[in-house]
Amino acid sequence: MADPLKSICEDPLERKWVWISLALAVVMAGMLGYYAVASNIHPPSNVETIDSSRLHLTEEFAEDNLGVKTNDDGSLTVTLVAARYGFYPPRIEVPADTRVTFRIASADVLHGVHVPFTNMTTMIVPGYISEVTTLFPQTGEFSLLCNEYCGLGHDSMWSRLVVVAKSAGGEAS
Ligand code: CUA
Repeated sequence: MADPLKSICEDPLERKWVWISLALAVVMAGMLGYYAVASNIHPPSNVETIDSSRLHLTEEFAEDNLGVKTNDDGSLTVTLVAARYGFYPPRIEVPADTRVTFRIASADVLHGVHVPFTNMTTMIVPGYISEVTTLFPQTGEFSLLCNEYCGLGHDSMWSRLVVVAKSAGGEAS
């Protein structure tokens, strides 16, 4: 079969590299699609607004009400505030294999949250409440990292997520 690029490019070496770049683009798009499906990653779709400058005046995001709460059906709700430069409370503990819904609001600028080796990741846009529901199959200590550049302290914006065995309970600490 004749090379379809021949009409626009004479140099065989250049055509070869055009094909390699196109193949790489296809491979990378395929990997993104594969991991999105295989790891059940989906874009955040919770549209719930909040006044970021008045988080402390809301009931849900007041300092005393942050952290892990157990719902009637046994699932957990974790309420967090993301602010330069940390997630509050700085340490949360949840049991493994339990549905956890994170509700996170930013007190200032755009942040992100990512827990490496899990599918927990979302953007935290000021003015909106980010909500993600997931469960953590593995016990251990994980980092909650900020993955959107938010200022000079971005590199040190992280907190600790401890996943304990299910029987151990897993209360806020
Ligand atoms: Cu918060 Cu980067």
